Amino acid sequence: MSSKVYDSIKPIIWQGGSLQLLDQRLLPTEHIYITLRDVNSVAQAITDMVVRGAPAIGITAAYGIVIAARHRFSENSDNWKQAIEADLETLAQSRPTAVNLFWAIDLMRDVIKGIAADDPIATLLTLARQIHKDDIEANLKMGELGAQLIEEPCAVLTHCNAGALATGGYGTALGVIRSAFAQNKIQHVYADETRPWLQGARLTAWEMVHDNIPVTLLVEGAAAHAIKISQLDETPIRWIIVGSDRIAANGDVANKIGTYSLAILARHHGIKFMVVAPTTTIDMNITCGVDIPIEERSIKEVLSCSGLEVAAKGAKAINPAFDVTPAELVDAIVTEKGVVLKPDTEKMKALMTKVT
Ligand code: MRU
Repeated sequence: MSSKVYDSIKPIIWQGGSLQLLDQRLLPTEHIYITLRDVNSVAQAITDMVVRGAPAIGITAAYGIVIAARHRFSENSDNWKQAIEADLETLAQSRPTAVNLFWAIDLMRDVIKGIAADDPIATLLTLARQIHKDDIEANLKMGELGAQLIEEPCAVLTHCNAGALATGGYGTALGVIRSAFAQNKIQHVYADETRPWLQGARLTAWEMVHDNIPVTLLVEGAAAHAIKISQLDETPIRWIIVGSDRIAANGDVANKIGTYSLAILARHHGIKFMVVAPTTTIDMNITCGVDIPIEERSIKEVLSCSGLEVAAKGAKAINPAFDVTPAELVDAIVTEKGVVLKPDTEKMKALMTKVT
């Protein structure tokens, strides 16, 4: 796959010393970049879903720390390392589930601790740019490895948006789909609409149409039916391919709410379930999925639809943004370091200690 594809969808741009985020809340209707000039606005943009998707959140936080460092250093060059801790904490509070956020903050903090240079901002910007670049490279590698698992031309189903928009570029799950489509292994993509934020309808469908990959939208509730009837088609759904926000040490996978039910459906219908995520999404400090913090968002997002109140007054709601799929339902975890089939603790440990 040529670099043209991932180069053309850019959720995060660092330009002229400032951070620009493509406002994903407005897609696909409007393509507007927001310029962020202080760390509080960066954290707010993450919370408010201007930028979303685990790797994209981590990259954004890294650039946010560059902005914070510039401000703190210009205020007091003797005390900036202590002062910036408050900014790192502000970013850490922006969303709880995607571990890429905490991974990026920890990496930047370690470098800050050791910086002796007169110009710390240049060093931090180089690191943020490297995090961004490494993520795109990881996605291209995962695209290649994931596509190898798909043996015959088929259709696949995906959930939420794990595409270029959710990453530095190219995408995790959609990266595999892009690579496998280029090899004629995937002929059709079914995209779950993904209530309440409609990442599937607004973002995944947009990315697929943009790349001329045939895409059909469905509401999550239609997935079981679609999988069942597609088995009689010329191109049956053979794989469900998703991204992840955090993978525990035993291979349990946190991803967008609704992913767990898809994994159960896959097992019931004898189709395969693939999770595509860079190793920055793997949290070896969390033994199993039950300890992964699950974000609870405002219930207004469920009680309304595109800003319009739709639920009966007085109805309660819950709004967990993620769920956890047990490792036993996962056929493959695809990372840039390699593929783990039927994940468990031993295999995950072997992957993470593998020297590449
Ligand atoms: O709430 P979101 O839109 O940030 O959720 C995104 C997902 O669940 C993605 O599948 C996940 O972050 C992987 S993105 C490569």
